[in-house]
Amino acid sequence: LRIAVLFGGRSAEHDVSVLSATNVMRALDPAKYDAVPIFVTREGQWLLSGFQDDALATPSVGTEICLVPGGRGRAMAIPTDGGALGELPEIGILFPVLHGLHGEDGAVQGLAEVTRVPLAGCGIVGSANALDKDIAKRLLGEAGLPTARSLTIRAGAALAFAELQATLGLPLFIKPARQGSSVGVSKISTESDYAEALAEGFRHDSKLLAEEFIRGREIECSVLEDPQGGLFVSRPGEIVPAESHGFYSYDAKYIDQDGAALNVPASLPEEIEDSLRVMAAQAFRAVGCDGMARVDFFVTAEMRLLVNELNTIPGFTDISMYSKAMAASGVSYAEIIDRLVAHGLA
Ligand code: DAL
Ligand code: MG
Repeated sequence: LRIAVLFGGRSAEHDVSVLSATNVMRALDPAKYDAVPIFVTREGQWLLSGFQDDALATPSVGTEICLVPGGRGRAMAIPTDGGALGELPEIGILFPVLHGLHGEDGAVQGLAEVTRVPLAGCGIVGSANALDKDIAKRLLGEAGLPTARSLTIRAGAALAFAELQATLGLPLFIKPARQGSSVGVSKISTESDYAEALAEGFRHDSKLLAEEFIRGREIECSVLEDPQGGLFVSRPGEIVPAESHGFYSYDAKYIDQDGAALNVPASLPEEIEDSLRVMAAQAFRAVGCDGMARVDFFVTAEMRLLVNELNTIPGFTDISMYSKAMAASGVSYAEIIDRLVAHGLA
């Protein structure tokens, strides 16, 4: 089966995607899959990549790839030096390993639909809903799933700091509604922090969330749907950010080698683990997901369980939770890919 692995991309998580896709390429069994890596540049061009010496090529010029509408996996290859148009061998399934906007938000999933290429992972609606934390929270709330209290801030209609403080308490978080990996997120306690946090947030999105700070543990479950629509929910894993980082920021995730520790499975009372796994499945359905997602929670000292967010293309980097939590539940990395492919082809 020819599997096109899309990676890189236009979002702020471009570099994270390269790390994720490198691990996906390593896990693809060459006896089963003919993997075709396609690098999406920061400008959004799709260029044929390659995987050699355990590394993905990230070219700036080369062969541009273009899926054909209605073509059932037909893709044209256009040399960027103006050479002759060619045709790629038919693509059997598209596996976007892109994080954030223009990749994890339903856009690429829509392209797969239009070009009639089977898609590995979550479809259009679940992707779009999950990537927008403002929309996802409303759907979760409607399903009776608790989330941290928040207020939505739109460009040109900033809320007064006093109002946020009165409603959400301090400290609080300012985060872009449609970003991942904590890009553009600030934890603030003062009015002057707030001004800076707004400027930083609006650099990444026109819609922000102000969210109450939940003092609690960060617990995550991996969800994988089988071709018949049944959900497999992994045992929960825990992320313990280093004290020095204050929260699980981009640097704590990817820059500082000791930024966070992962405990998988998380040490939790059995009934709490059971509740989290049930809630993970409910959250997955409430947001309209299919295929795959990682559901992130806060668990407070009083054992209050809150859904933080869903990631429909969770990180597959060395420090990422999705595959570790699955492994702790007896599902290997190669098996995750086989199941995603089976789901996409069903
Ligand atoms: N957004 C990052 C990749 C994650 O959720 O793992
Ligand atoms: Mg996220």
